[in-house]
Amino acid sequence: MKAAIIKKYGGPEVITIADIPRPVPGPKEVLIKIHAVSINPVDWKIRKGNLKMLLNKKFPKILGIEFSGVIEETGADVKNLKKGQRVFAGKGYEGGGYAEYAVADESRTVVLPDNISFEEASTMAVAGMTALQGLRNKGKIKAGMDVIVNGASGGVGTYAVQIAKVLGAKVTAVCSARNFDLVKSLGADVIIDYKETDFTRLPKKYNIVFDAVGYRSFWQTYRVLKKRGIYVNISPSFPLYITSMITRLNPGRKSKGFMLHPDMDDLREVMNMIATKKIKVIIDKTFPLEKMAEAHSYSETERARGKIVVVVEH
Ligand SMILES: NC(=O)c1ccc[n+]([C@@H]2O[C@H](COP(=O)([O-])OP(=O)(O)OC[C@H]3O[C@@H](n4cnc5c(N)ncnc54)[C@H](OP(=O)(O)O)[C@@H]3O)[C@@H](O)[C@H]2O)c1
Repeated sequence: MKAAIIKKYGGPEVITIADIPRPVPGPKEVLIKIHAVSINPVDWKIRKGNLKMLLNKKFPKILGIEFSGVIEETGADVKNLKKGQRVFAGKGYEGGGYAEYAVADESRTVVLPDNISFEEASTMAVAGMTALQGLRNKGKIKAGMDVIVNGASGGVGTYAVQIAKVLGAKVTAVCSARNFDLVKSLGADVIIDYKETDFTRLPKKYNIVFDAVGYRSFWQTYRVLKKRGIYVNISPSFPLYITSMITRLNPGRKSKGFMLHPDMDDLREVMNMIATKKIKVIIDKTFPLEKMAEAHSYSETERARGKIVVVVEH
């Protein structure tokens, strides 16, 4: 099968297309014929070697942590899935999705409703669940709350604006002027151009600042947080960890770092929001598998409007 592989860490040029053997599903795994795989910033962070401490040392590596396709084969102990079903599957940092076929655990594979395309489905876990878990588990979002989404036009941001609205919040979205129309179409109540206005200087106070690009800090956003307001940052760092520790021990405003954790109920919740048209998946660009290096370069510009998806032709 064809796969986009890396044989060492480095720039987009280390990605090459190779012919390698198809993986064989273990007893509790399914083999998926992949139709779409999502590009996430963590993919190029892995490619650069930024996460090498968390990964095994083996090369070649196939990146790609969330993908959709059709079940081609099932392992002997797979109980609830069968050949021919349209599915989405998530993997950890070990990846495997930048290929024509990949194996996935039955426990991390969901059957797709007919009205969700492979491209849409491929984006549900990382961006979709991050928005849901970040707002709900960390931000403690409730109907009627005032929420800022910083980075509203990106992969996570476009989900976050919509999910915050579905959960009943009033959303102030921060993006650049070129993305105003997009963000307005997602239901944002107020839109701020970060090149014109520093949202941390707004006179209003907010229950949650959801920092989907992670470029601000708790201390910068302190002024716009209500007394029990929560700053959620999805780009973990040591200073963020320290601030979170300090604010956890003190009453008042909180700083919280976020790391996505796989949860099939949350995934189904996001999927259900898409299937029932409560939210829509914004796909900026698609690339063929052969252009994986270009897809990475585009993601690295950090200018994507919504998600970037690689479509695998068979
Ligand atoms: N902790 C976790 O579990 C987790 C999960 C998912 C993602 N993440 C991280 O979250 C970050 C965002 O992910 P993503 O997929 O949403 O990335 P993305 O799609 O690449 O984000 C691109 C968007 O960011 C916007 N942006 C760039 N600079 C900005 C600024 N200074 N202020 C406001 N918006 C700005 C861009 O808008 P303009 O072009 O208008 O500037 C663009 O629309 C990444 O660092 C990713 O690794 C973490």
